[in-house]
Amino acid sequence: MSVIISPSVLSADFGNLQRDIEMLNASKADWLHIDVMDGIFVPNISFGFPVIKAIQRVATKPLDVHLMIQEPDRYLVDFKSVGAEVLTVHFEVCKHLHRTCSAIRDLGMKVGVALNPHTPVEALADILGEIDLVLIMSVNPGFGGQQFIPHTISKIKRLKQMIDAMGHSVLIEVDGGVNDQNARQLIQAGADVLVAGNFIFQSAQPLEAIASLK
Ligand code: DX5
Ligand code: ZN
Repeated sequence: MSVIISPSVLSADFGNLQRDIEMLNASKADWLHIDVMDGIFVPNISFGFPVIKAIQRVATKPLDVHLMIQEPDRYLVDFKSVGAEVLTVHFEVCKHLHRTCSAIRDLGMKVGVALNPHTPVEALADILGEIDLVLIMSVNPGFGGQQFIPHTISKIKRLKQMIDAMGHSVLIEVDGGVNDQNARQLIQAGADVLVAGNFIFQSAQPLEAIASLK
């Protein structure tokens, strides 16, 4: 399977959002990565339902929604209704992660669990069989345009071994500081989905930047 590219809309030009989503529609991107931040779990606030709804109206690719919010359980139905196909919650905020994952699945979405840089992949040993995707944060969540944390590579390799040993397929997504310099190493380590924000949207040639990650 070739790598899935999920451009992070957080780095788009919000004054020209339709133009930027249409660019992604015409590109080699596979998914659209949507970062929701609440200003409490992370020190930044991004956007909410009206903006996601507007993106969904234009987008022709699946919405890969990354929740950086406390108490995600309160909003699962709302994210389904604005078009989330993959819904990822953070391990660090879910007291009853198994229940949250079941609720996401029951709503008909793919289930993802995200890990901050300090959270070991081994923490997922007893939930891995119940989920579709693990999102490994390769920066501290909250902002686009940060430096990739090199230790991420060893986390991907360890997670890949856990998944292979289990025999049930789970995608590994990497988010933060991804670019054409580290993409190959990430894919070789076991990444299936690459998120990229600044690398794509700061490029003078975003279509080529997306293709270069593949
Ligand atoms: C960070 C977000 C990322 C971010 C990635 O908290 O989860 O998805 O938009 O942006 P870049 O690729 O610029 O690091
Ligand atoms: Zn993200």
